[in-house]
Amino acid sequence: MTRVVVIDPQDLDLARIREVATVLRDGGLVAFPTETVYGLGAHALNALAVARIFAAKGRPETDPMIVHLAGVDRLDTVARNVPPAARDLAAAFWPGALTLILEKRPAVPEAVTAGLHTVGIRVPSHPIAHALLDAAGVPVAAPSANRFSRPSPTRAEHVLADLDGVVDIVIDGGATTIGVESTILDLTVTPPLVRRPGGVALSEIRRVVPDAMSVSETMPHERAQPAPGQLLRHYAPRAPLTLYVGEVAGVSVRLANDVRTAVASGQRVGVLAPEEDLLALAPRLAAVGASGRVVTMRCGSRRDRDAAARDLFQTLRALDARGVDVILASAPEGDGINAAIVDRLTRAAEGRVVRT
Ligand code: TXA
Ligand code: MG
Repeated sequence: MTRVVVIDPQDLDLARIREVATVLRDGGLVAFPTETVYGLGAHALNALAVARIFAAKGRPETDPMIVHLAGVDRLDTVARNVPPAARDLAAAFWPGALTLILEKRPAVPEAVTAGLHTVGIRVPSHPIAHALLDAAGVPVAAPSANRFSRPSPTRAEHVLADLDGVVDIVIDGGATTIGVESTILDLTVTPPLVRRPGGVALSEIRRVVPDAMSVSETMPHERAQPAPGQLLRHYAPRAPLTLYVGEVAGVSVRLANDVRTAVASGQRVGVLAPEEDLLALAPRLAAVGASGRVVTMRCGSRRDRDAAARDLFQTLRALDARGVDVILASAPEGDGINAAIVDRLTRAAEGRVVRT
């Protein structure tokens, strides 16, 4: 049985959080909100508890997890040979949506790091995540709290949709504020590499570590791979998704055309796009009489990419719930949070990307 514990992030019930923290410390599985997405937590130094995460998610054992800490003062309990850049980055971005890859201490079980000698570490800023980690007093391994390959959860109901019955407790603290996962920066290579774009922009990281680079900027090279696990089918709704990248004008022409073809072949089509794209698309769909078989879902706007990030995983799940056969998604190219959105949609599309 999964217990749902509702906690108001603006008015923390510390007695309840302490009670939940005991379950975590004793080897239980607790899903909790962070500022990025919901995490599925277990005591990181308890290999049996960590094994339960893999079983609950259906996650391959080759996919390492992020270790969450209450504060930077606990860093040396899980990492060693911490370079000065890590301290500078922690001072600038923790608590927050940045994960640092560092050399791991032997106390961290191999199951957490998928056998790597490095460990991903993050200090989340969400008040519930912080209070829970503080009360637990132990490092907490937590991947996103979805079944493997499904869109990450940004609300407690998404966690329950995927994991009801297989986790002990879900803390319902409402919707997460960023909506896409943390940026992963590998500090064990030179120059430091962003292996997954996320909540913190590379341009902001470069203010602290000027030589940091993204995987896509580097020449093809073994060291320049995305983070392990990121190569697998990921963030995907059930319906196959195609991503359209470009300006509104080009995208809306191409999208309308492809919607018409799909509808003509009898498919129910989901369109996930920024407000401006939906406005440009509406008259084109009406003109071909396709509106009735198309479910449109607004994902933020081209002007407000933070809103698009918040909407992203929720709209992917909502389109699945509407039973569409295919999803056509649009997103503008860009840096910062845009890079994270395009990254997630590209993975969901498994390579079906149309540039207009
Ligand atoms: O925002 C987030 O990062 C969320 C919240 C819950 O903190 N967590 C999250 O975890 O996104 P997850 O498991 O869905 O993604 C963790 C990814 C792994 O798939 C892997 O790519 C990378 O982090 N990772 C973890 N440890 C690593 C390591 N030692 N070296 C390289 N990549 C690592
Ligand atoms: Mg994940």
